[in-house]
Amino acid sequence: MALVSPSILSSDFANLESEMKRLQAAGADWAHVDVMDGHFVPNISIGAPVVKAISKVSDIPLDVHLMISDPDFYLDDFIKAGAYMITIHEECDSDVEKVLRRIKDAGVKCAVSIKPKTPVSVLEKYIDILDMILIMTVEPGFGGQKFIDACLPKIAEARALIDAKNPSCLLQIDGGVTCENVDAAKAAGADVIVAGSSVYGAADMSEAIKVLGR
Ligand code: DX5
Ligand code: ZN
Repeated sequence: MALVSPSILSSDFANLESEMKRLQAAGADWAHVDVMDGHFVPNISIGAPVVKAISKVSDIPLDVHLMISDPDFYLDDFIKAGAYMITIHEECDSDVEKVLRRIKDAGVKCAVSIKPKTPVSVLEKYIDILDMILIMTVEPGFGGQKFIDACLPKIAEARALIDAKNPSCLLQIDGGVTCENVDAAKAAGADVIVAGSSVYGAADMSEAIKVLGR
């Protein structure tokens, strides 16, 4: 069993209220919110005002993935916007440990993500305080990319780190996950599944969520 956190990057931005309700009705555990600043990644998506707006129209916990260069500067906005979990990138320009502590002090769950080329070993120094690790399985920036198979051993490596040092930490994967490749990722140890195109592109959203999570 895994939690399923569909990425709203693939939803209809002109109708976010009904999209959030549709996601909740379809049985999603969380909603994954991809925040991109056009600097850390070559794309701009949504910011804190939109996170705040969608937090008011459904009860689904918001899993906020900050693909931004300076999370320290913008953090308060996302805390106030109602995030349940805030993920920052190890490769960002801020002091990662300081930002993680600020997230925790605010009573929000904290996570660190690594891009496909970043080794799992960089996470060792944060493992004690993490609520979740996010292993990116595509280069961050865009939905609809192909799952990078070479990331599978990293999922297993992160699983081993979690089991040894902080068993309550969750292990999330994000990028190119489909009903066809999800089993390999879960076998490697993933327990929170992010999926955008495969959930929103499915003929039956609730069936797709069921298959990804089972
Ligand atoms: C990529 C984002 C992902 C992405 C997932 O930068 O972090 O969350 O939107 O979308 P799919 O599942 O389509 O790869
Ligand atoms: Zn994401």
